[in-house]
Amino acid sequence: MGDGTRIGAGAKNENASSRVKCPQMHHNPFDLLSAARAGKDVVSLLNQPHQDQCFPKYGFAPADISARLSELRATLTSELHGAFSMHCLADSDHFMPESRRLGDEAFDAFRRFNAIFTGLEPAAAQIEDDVMAMCTEIFNGGSAGRCNITGGGTESIYCAMLAMREWAKSTLPHICEPEFVAPYTAHIAFSRAAHNFGLKIKRVPVGPDWRILPADLEAAINKQTIGLVASAPNWPYGIVDPIPEIAAIAHRRGLWMHVDACVGGYVLPFAKKAGFSLPDFDLSVPGVCSLSADLHKYGYVPKPCSTILWQSESYQQFHYYIPDDWPDGAYLSQSLMGSRPFAPTAAAWAILNALGQDGFVSQARAIMATKEALVEGISKIEGLEPWRNDLPLLIVSGRDLDISHVVGGMRRKSWVFLGNEQPPSMHLTIDPLSDQVIKSLLIDLSSVVAEIRAGQSVAGDLQYGLAKTRRTARWIEQARGIALRAKPRGY
Ligand SMILES: Cc1ncc(COP(=O)(O)O)c(C=O)c1O
Repeated sequence: MGDGTRIGAGAKNENASSRVKCPQMHHNPFDLLSAARAGKDVVSLLNQPHQDQCFPKYGFAPADISARLSELRATLTSELHGAFSMHCLADSDHFMPESRRLGDEAFDAFRRFNAIFTGLEPAAAQIEDDVMAMCTEIFNGGSAGRCNITGGGTESIYCAMLAMREWAKSTLPHICEPEFVAPYTAHIAFSRAAHNFGLKIKRVPVGPDWRILPADLEAAINKQTIGLVASAPNWPYGIVDPIPEIAAIAHRRGLWMHVDACVGGYVLPFAKKAGFSLPDFDLSVPGVCSLSADLHKYGYVPKPCSTILWQSESYQQFHYYIPDDWPDGAYLSQSLMGSRPFAPTAAAWAILNALGQDGFVSQARAIMATKEALVEGISKIEGLEPWRNDLPLLIVSGRDLDISHVVGGMRRKSWVFLGNEQPPSMHLTIDPLSDQVIKSLLIDLSSVVAEIRAGQSVAGDLQYGLAKTRRTARWIEQARGIALRAKPRGY
């Protein structure tokens, strides 16, 4: 049976690439033959209505599937127009093409290997150990520092908050309702971690220049506090919190201190080496117990891949939990997941080795050059105000115009941007991009601002995760409905 034949269809006279249109999304597909006999509507996969399709009783023709996937893929925002939001870092081919090719090659070579079995494959174990050793060195862990690989920033934060809770059980046993204190700007993953692990998060408002004041964090500490959190930098504003001061407070008060460097972790150390003035933030800072940093962001590694760093084994020990109460004996995993892809770790190994310190420093310089060019260009557009923040994010607010209309107008020109609701602002993740891309972004921004001034504008979304498009996934709509219904009951 070759391309063009439906596997298992068994009917001689019907169109090989066709199936019965599903009248209700939740109905089983009809039997093709009886449906055909009954004269029902028969359609190809390629002509499916734009709704969730039914699970097919028989597989469609491979050629149909490839064609439909290409059709869907072709409607994605282009790498150029999504360069500052969804396509940043992962898909940009404007820089380091050779390292990226090597990363993809390593990814493909291990794409079916399950990282839970690293213990059975010495080569995989070597690759993991190498990556963790290189990352520990990047964050100045010294000989005591430790590292684990996880599936993303959220998971690294979960690991840190869970370890912090377990540490508190033995170090601060009098605390029965553990809390941790975080700036309002800390990533939302901390609220999710608190919810998941029975912790309370106390978020502290930032100061007038959008920076957290260490004294305000300290004032929020009470008898139930087990730890402090800070970001390097935070996602909403791209500002590096004053880590040494906050870590000193944690140290003095006998608390756990976590640094969230998920977005900036793999660019800040190299920007510092390139001469940019940035606060210390890593494991060399006294008081820092754990640090999250994503290889799948400015480590340029395909997703999912992050690292969680520990000051020493005396903190990492609270990360491991090795149950054995089942027929197969003790179970150990690097992270919260069981089975997980090894391919990103292999890609990380290739990319870290291909770029080396020197390559990462050049990348940091190129990112800064792109950011500077954008800041300069955007400052010349009347009404737009780029923020002076720390690497590698750029925030733009409106002076006398509604920035959500800038996001909306850019969307009409196919550009996709993320935003902040508080204060209303546009959010860009910076890649080292070509002058041509920067120029075309600035031209479109200018013309959108002119449209707004001419009263021809449309609002866009400034939300991170729930922005609506022409077609939003049904599960999102359902979840939104559930959340809204649950809210009045004190959700
Ligand atoms: C500072 C920070 N922390 C945590 C995360 C969460 O990372 P992920 O989306 O990989 O789970 C992000 C994501 O952008 C981030 O910027």
